[in-house]
Parts: sequence; C-alpha cells; structure tokens
Amino acid sequence: MKVTLVGFMGAGKTTIGKLLSERLKTPFLDLDELIVEQVGMSIPEIFKKKGENEFRKIESSILKELLYQNRSFVLSTGGGTPTYLNNMELINQNSISVFLRTDFKTTWRRISSDENRPLVLLGKEKLLKLYLKRLPFYFKAKLIIDATFLSPVDTVLNIIKVL
Ligand code: S3P
Repeated sequence: MKVTLVGFMGAGKTTIGKLLSERLKTPFLDLDELIVEQVGMSIPEIFKKKGENEFRKIESSILKELLYQNRSFVLSTGGGTPTYLNNMELINQNSISVFLRTDFKTTWRRISSDENRPLVLLGKEKLLKLYLKRLPFYFKAKLIIDATFLSPVDTVLNIIKVL
C-alpha cells in the first residue's frame, strides 16, 4: 500500500507519517529528506544556491520516481509538493492521498521560528496567502483528516479507520 500525506508546513506530516508507518508496518519516507540526501545540501541551502524552481524540479522528479515504483510506503511530502506540475494528480493516481488539515494559526505557531523552512522568511501575511492558495490542491486528496485539535496518536487512529 502507498499512502501519501499532503498539507501545509507544520501540519504534522512527518510526525504523523512516522507513527502511521509503524502502525501499518510499512516503511516511512520523507520527500524533503530524500531531496537533501540526493542533492547533498540542506533545504535552505538548496533554495539559496539553486533557487526554488530547481528545488521544485528535483522534488517533482523524486516524487514521480517513488510513485511509479512497485513498493509500499507512507510518504510525507513538502507543503508545496502537490501544487507543482501535475503532482497532485500523480499522487492521487498512484497512492492513497491524505490531507492533514490544520488551521493557519496552528501552522504558523509551529513554523514561525523554524530556520530550516526558507519560506517562513516570507512572513506571516504572505504565508497566509500561500496557505489559502494551496488549499484547493490539498482538498483534492482522497481523505481529509482534521488534525488541528487532535493528538498525533488520535490523528493516526482516525486515518487508519478510513483507509
Ligand atoms: C515547503 C515545505 C517544506 C519544504 C520546503 C518548501 C513549502 O516541507 O519542502 O521548505 O513549499 O511549503 P514541510 O511541509 O515538511 O515543511
């Protein structure tokens, strides 16, 4: 089984993904980590030295490769992954997509002081705009799980119930 978690930065995709992979006894993959491994630079470094566009190309190509492989996984994507090219369609065609929904307030509280997320430098107002712009992509997911007020364990239980 392939499960792909989508949602904005700070939604808990990595935390939930790891827990879910344990419960499903399926390997956990983190798209950001795979990008960092492949390029040999941190995410902020990639943004700085190669630019966001190049980051998106690498991100999309690793995503595609994973989705076309014949293996099971729980994949945590980056907040921007579903909004580029036809990534969300590919995700939906080749895996069970889960939108981890959190409100912007929660998201901002979690990410505002994170130096490993270059887009945080845009500031709260621009990020809110980006959040709103991305929602329609996230809502294309097969499953929508509201994670704002739930603990990670309860969120995972809710996902398993509907998988
Ligand atoms: C991004 C989200 C990040 C990472 C990069 C860009 C985005 O992943 O891919 O900093 O465009 O929202 P997380 O959603 O895991 O923070």
